[in-house]
Amino acid sequence: MDSLSQLASFVLSHITGLITLLIILGIGILYVQDRSQVDQTIRRNYPVIGRFRYLFEDLGVFFRQYFFALDREEMPFNRADRSWAYRAAKRESTLQAFGSTRVHHEGDVVFANAVIPFTGESQNSPITFGPKCQAPYTTDRLFHISGMSYGAISKPAVTALALGAKQAGIWINTGEGGASDAHLESGADLVYQIGTAKYGVRTSEGNLDPEKLRSLAARESVKMFEIKISQGAKPGKGGILPADKVTPEIAAQRGIPAGEASISPPGHQEINSAAELFDFIHEVREITGKPTGFKVCIGNIDDFRAVLEVLISDAQKAADLATAEQSKQVFQTYLTDYAPDFITLDSGNGGTGAAPMSLIDAAGMNIQESLPSVVNLLTSMGLRDRIRLVASGKLITPVDVAWALCAGADCVTSARGFMFSLGCIQALQCHQNTCPTGITTHNKKLQRGLDAKVKSNRVANYANEMHSELDTIAHSCGAANASMLNRSHALIYVGNQRAVSMTQVYAGDLTHEK
Ligand SMILES: Cc1cc2nc3c(=O)[nH]c(=O)nc-3n(C[C@H](O)[C@H](O)[C@H](O)COP(=O)(O)O)c2cc1C
Repeated sequence: MDSLSQLASFVLSHITGLITLLIILGIGILYVQDRSQVDQTIRRNYPVIGRFRYLFEDLGVFFRQYFFALDREEMPFNRADRSWAYRAAKRESTLQAFGSTRVHHEGDVVFANAVIPFTGESQNSPITFGPKCQAPYTTDRLFHISGMSYGAISKPAVTALALGAKQAGIWINTGEGGASDAHLESGADLVYQIGTAKYGVRTSEGNLDPEKLRSLAARESVKMFEIKISQGAKPGKGGILPADKVTPEIAAQRGIPAGEASISPPGHQEINSAAELFDFIHEVREITGKPTGFKVCIGNIDDFRAVLEVLISDAQKAADLATAEQSKQVFQTYLTDYAPDFITLDSGNGGTGAAPMSLIDAAGMNIQESLPSVVNLLTSMGLRDRIRLVASGKLITPVDVAWALCAGADCVTSARGFMFSLGCIQALQCHQNTCPTGITTHNKKLQRGLDAKVKSNRVANYANEMHSELDTIAHSCGAANASMLNRSHALIYVGNQRAVSMTQVYAGDLTHEK
C-alpha cells in the first residue's frame, strides 16, 4: 500500500514533466513520419506544423458556412433560401421584418402586383397528364418531389419523402434506382423513372423488360413514367453510385453486385436518334397505358428544336398518306401516339448525388434560360397543349417556383428543396456516404438521427407552405390561384436597375393559355 501511494505521489508530482515528455515524444514521431513520407510536399517540407493546413482546410468548410458567408452569398444555396425551406418545413413563421435584403441582378423576377388584388377563395385548377392515355394522371398540386434514387439517398430519407408526399398529395419521382418498398408502401403517387441502366425494369442484358414494366404499371400508385435522357448536373453522363453506397440491399434492388460502383451508361441503348426517342416513348406508353415523358437538360435550343422537328415531320408524313379529310386527324393521332406527355426540363445547375465537377460546374443551360425558350418553341410548333412542362433546378422558394409558373411551366419539382425539409445542412458529402444528417448515407449510426415519421411531416409542411405562398403571390397579382400565373404577372430585371414585362423579355408566341 505504501509503495502504491509512493508511486501515486511520484506520478502526481511529476505529472507536468510526464505530459511534456509525451508531447515531445509524439511530436518527434510525427516529425519523423512527415519527413520520411513522400505523398504530401507540405508535410515533408514543414514537418508537424504542415499538418495544420489539412486540418484548417477541413474546418474551413464549416467556419465559412457558419461564421463568414453572408445570407445571400453561399453556394449552391444561400442561407436566406435554405432558411425559408427549413422554417416552412418546421411550420415556423416564414414572415420577415423591416425590409428586403435581396439585391436584384439581371434576370431576377419581380411579380407584377395588381392594383386590386384577388380576395376570393383560391382553388387550384387540376392539370391532366396524357389525357388520351388509358390511365391519364390528374393533379391539382404544382410542386412535387424530383427524382432521387434509393441508393443516392437512404432508406429513412426515401421513407420520409414518400410518406410526406402522400400526406401533401404531391408526387414523388423514384429517381433511377427503381421503386423501393418504401416508395410502394407509402401510397404516394409515384413517377417511375426509367434511367439509362433501367434499374427495376431491366433484363439481364440491360434491355427494357416489358413484363417488369407491365407489372409495375399495373400498380395503382405508379402514375407516370419518366425516361431519363439527361440530368442537369451531369448531362451526357449516367448515374453514379460510388461503391461505398452499393450495400447488399441496394445491389439487390438494382440487380448488380454489392460493393461495386454502380455506373449507368450515358444514354439508352434503344435511343440513338430523335426518331428512336419517340419510338421508345411510344413503346413505354403502349406497355404501361400511362403518361410517359422524358427528362432532359438542354445545352442548345437549336439542337432541341431539331429533335422536335423530327416528331412534327413524321406526323406530317403520316398525315400526307391519309385522305385530305382525314389528314388533320391522322396528324393529331400521331402526336397522341408518339409525342411525350410531358417533358421534365432540368437545369444545368441542378443537383446530384455524385458527378464530375466539370459537368456540375459547366454543362447544360440553366432553367432561367431554357424554360422560356422551350415554352416559346413548343408554342410555335403547336405542341404546347399536347406536352406538359415540368421545370426543375434550384427552384426551392415560392419566388423561384412562381417565376417558373409565370414563365410557362405547368409544375415544378425539386430534389434539394425537399432534402432541406429533411434537415440537409448542405455539407456537400452526398458522394462520400458520410452525410451528417443521414439523408445520403447508408451508415446506420448516421441514419439514427433521421426519424422518418417526424421528417415526413416536415416534407408535407414544406410542400403545403409552398403552395400557400404561391397562392399569396398569385392573389397579389390579381390571379385566383397559382396555376393561373402567366408572363403578364411578372417583370424581369434587365440589368440591375430596370425591370421590364416578362412577356416582352421572353418574347415569343404566347397564344397558349394555361
Ligand atoms: C441526392 C440526389 C440524387 C439525385 N438522383 C437523381 C436520379 O436518380 N435521377 C435523376 O434524374 N435526377 C436525380 N437527381 C437530380 C434531381 O432530380 C433534380 O433534377 C436536380 O437536383 C434539380 O433539382 P433541385 O435543384 O431542386 O435539386 C438527384 C439529385 C440529388 C441531389
